[in-house]
Amino acid sequence: MKEKIAALLNEVEQFKADSQENIEAFRIKILGSKGVLKDLFADFKNVPNEQKKEVGQLINELKEKAQDKVNELKNNLTTSEDSAGAIDLTKPGYPTPLGSRHPISLVRKEIIDIFSRIGFTVSEGPEIEDDWHNFSALNFPPEHPARDMQDTFFVKSDDKEMALRTHTSSVQVRIMENTKPPIRTLSPGRVYRNEAISARAHCFFHQVEGLYIAEKVSFADLKQTLLYFAKEMFGEKTEIRLRPSYFPFTEPSAEMDVSCSVCNSKGCNVCKYTGFLEILGCGMVDPSVLENCGIDSKKYSGFAFGMGVERIAMLKYKVNDLRLYSEGDIRFLEQFKSAF
Ligand code: PHE
Repeated sequence: MKEKIAALLNEVEQFKADSQENIEAFRIKILGSKGVLKDLFADFKNVPNEQKKEVGQLINELKEKAQDKVNELKNNLTTSEDSAGAIDLTKPGYPTPLGSRHPISLVRKEIIDIFSRIGFTVSEGPEIEDDWHNFSALNFPPEHPARDMQDTFFVKSDDKEMALRTHTSSVQVRIMENTKPPIRTLSPGRVYRNEAISARAHCFFHQVEGLYIAEKVSFADLKQTLLYFAKEMFGEKTEIRLRPSYFPFTEPSAEMDVSCSVCNSKGCNVCKYTGFLEILGCGMVDPSVLENCGIDSKKYSGFAFGMGVERIAMLKYKVNDLRLYSEGDIRFLEQFKSAF
């Protein structure tokens, strides 16, 4: 009996395993309900009394060693699996969610791309403007009712009254003052008007205005440029319509409509059953504006146009509420991922 236990102790000590299955087979063989230990305990009653103490200790020693061995082997196996997992460089990484460009940025970029293909550059200017650049140079005399067309946010300043620019025509004044014609430039940017916020109006929005000044620029040039833009932006089949209008800084002035792409000009609630949608204001730069900015109006003429980026984006993406653009609602913004 003692030799048998000694041999088993030796076997337990030597045992090695590299898988859960091997360890489990070993456990069942030694410690299981029909295992070696069970038999030993059964034989124990036949051991002569004077040897019982010694043999009993040996059996207990065997049981403890076998138990310790099983635990040790299991531990080794799981820690080596864990550490292998922690440095498994072949596993796919955690995906980082990608943001997307804002629809206003997308459309502004598209407008700029279209005009840059026919030679327009981009100019920028301050959002807090003085009276001269936002109004006076553009033929808005003080107290003139035309100033009411653009409800203005005035800003208190020490030396002179300033305002948040109501249009980016102010940038064009700055360009005309500082550049010799020919001038062919776009002024994209944010503008502010004191209007109640609703689905169709906001106190700030974005514009892209364009200016072309050279010798012998005519209304036909304006019309052709805008037709090119409308077709590039809304599709080859797009038609344009110019309606007479009024702006203090252009003469003649017009508003431009494009054929409604929602209903193919058949009439729908987007175009209010007219078949056309208004998208921009335009006209020939008034000679007195050229003179205000130091450009010889006998030698040069030019055209200007201005459009709201939100308006173009609304038509392009069929957005029906202007407020969505500035609320930062991720459910709205995520829809423009594919347009990136
Ligand atoms: N500045 C005008 C506006 O903000 C748009 C415009 C620009 C009209 C150039 C005519 C020519 O409403």
